[in-house]
Amino acid sequence: MVFKLGLLGLGTVGTGTAEILLNPEGRNPLLKEIEIKSVGVRSLSKARSVSFPEGVLTDDLESIVNDPDIDIIVELMGGLEPVRSLLLKAIANGKHIVTANKAAIAMHGAEIFDAAQEAGVYVLLEAAVGGGIPILKPLKEALGVNRISRITGIVNGTTNYILTQMAQKGANFDDVLTEAQDLGYAEADPTADVGGLDAADKIAILASLAFGGRIKREDVYTEGITQVDAADISYAQQLGFTIKLLAIAQQKTSNGQSLQLRVHPTLLPQDHPLASINGVYNAVLVEGDPIEQVMFFGPGAGAGPTASAVVSDIISIIGILKSAQGSQRLNPLLSPEHQHYCAIAPMSELVTRFYARFLCNDNPGVIGHLGTCFGKHDVSLESVVQIGYQDSLAEIVVVTHDGTEANFHNALTEIRGFSLLDNISIASVLRVW
Ligand SMILES: NC(=O)c1ccc[n+]([C@@H]2O[C@H](COP(=O)([O-])OP(=O)(O)OC[C@H]3O[C@@H](n4cnc5c(N)ncnc54)[C@H](OP(=O)(O)O)[C@@H]3O)[C@@H](O)[C@H]2O)c1
Repeated sequence: MVFKLGLLGLGTVGTGTAEILLNPEGRNPLLKEIEIKSVGVRSLSKARSVSFPEGVLTDDLESIVNDPDIDIIVELMGGLEPVRSLLLKAIANGKHIVTANKAAIAMHGAEIFDAAQEAGVYVLLEAAVGGGIPILKPLKEALGVNRISRITGIVNGTTNYILTQMAQKGANFDDVLTEAQDLGYAEADPTADVGGLDAADKIAILASLAFGGRIKREDVYTEGITQVDAADISYAQQLGFTIKLLAIAQQKTSNGQSLQLRVHPTLLPQDHPLASINGVYNAVLVEGDPIEQVMFFGPGAGAGPTASAVVSDIISIIGILKSAQGSQRLNPLLSPEHQHYCAIAPMSELVTRFYARFLCNDNPGVIGHLGTCFGKHDVSLESVVQIGYQDSLAEIVVVTHDGTEANFHNALTEIRGFSLLDNISIASVLRVW
C-alpha cells in the first residue's frame, strides 16, 4: 500500500523532511510505503537542493489540499495565513495533518482540532515544540498516566544562545544578537524569539497536553530577554545563579483548579538541571506523580532534527491507518479529545523569589529603607548586597524570599517614591527559581 503526501513548504524543514522521505534505507520500513505526490512552494524558479519528478513542485497550494489522492498534508510553511485556511480545507477534505507550526496551533488550535475531530482526522505536531526532541508524544503516551504538576522548558534556541554567550563572554545583548543573526541562529526580525512569543506558543501547546484542557494563547504571561543586562548576568553568577528564559506551566493548587502559565527570564540556581543547557539546545523538565522528574534534551531546531520529528508523526499516522483500516474511531492517545479551557491564575497570585537591582545615591540608610519597605509589604529579604558603582551611583542587588507578585510590586511602587530622598531607580527586576 502506498500513502500519498502533500508537502506545503520546501524551506529549511521541508527540505530536511523530503531528504528523509527520499532516502528511506536503514530507517523505519514504513517510509518505503510513502510517496511525495505534490510539494507546494511560493517560487517555482528558486534553486532547490532536492529534486522531484516533473509536476510534483507547484505554487498552487489549493490544488494540493483539494487533491483526493493525497492522504496526509505536511505543513511546513510557517505563519498564520494562508496556513489556517489551507489546513481547514485539507481537514474538511478528510486529510490527516502533520505540522511544525507552533504559531498557527497556539493561535488557531481550537478551530483546527474541532474541525479535525469532526472530520475524524489526526493533527500531529511533534516538531512544533523542541524541534527534534520527542516531547509531545511522550506527554500523550509514555507519561500520560502521571498527574503532571509542572513543566519547565528552555524551548527557544535563539534566546538560549544569546543568554549563554552573554554569560560566557560577558558581552551585551545587542552585540550577541547581531552575532547570532550573522550565524543564522536568529531571524532578521528576532521579535518572536527575543520577545518570548515563540516560547509562549510552545508552552501553550505543552500545557494543553499535560493538563488536558485548551489554553487561550493570550493567557500566557510573556516577558522576553531584551531587558536582561550584562550586569545582571554577572551579578547572578556571583550569587550562584545562571539566567535562562524559562517557559513554565504549573498547577497552582493541589486540587488542580488553576494553572500558572508564564515565560520570563529566571535566575536558576547553578545546580538546577536546566542551568547547564547551553547554546541553541532545548530541554523540557516534566514533573509529575509518580514519575517525579524526567528531562528531555536535544536540538530544538535545524533542518535534520526538526524533520526527524515531522517524519515520526507521518509514520505514526501511517501505522494507525494500516492497523485500523476501516475503523472510524481516532486513537485517543494521539488525538486528545478535551474541549474545555484551563482556568489560568492571574500573575499577581504567583509566589516566587525576586531579584532586583537598584541604582541610588550612596547615602547611609538606603539599605535600611529598602528592607523596611519590602517588610511592610510582606516581602522578606534573603540577601541585600551593595555590589559596586555605576556612574557614581551605588548599585544594590536584592534577592527576596518567596513572596507574591502583587506584594513585591506594591513594595517597588513605594520604593520609587524614595527617589526624592536617595535618587533611587530600579535598574532591573527578574524572578528567581
Ligand atoms: N527552521 C527550524 O529549525 C524550525 C524548527 C521547528 C519548527 N519550525 C517551523 O517549521 C515551519 C517551517 O519553517 P522553515 O524554517 O522551514 O521555513 P522556511 O525555510 O522559511 O520555508 C518556508 C517554505 O514555505 C513556503 N511558503 C511560505 N509561504 C508560502 C505561501 N504563502 N505560499 C506558498 N509557499 C509558501 C516557502 O516557499 P519558497 O521556498 O518558494 O520561498 C518555503 O519553501 C515553521 O512553522 C517553523 O516555525 C522550524
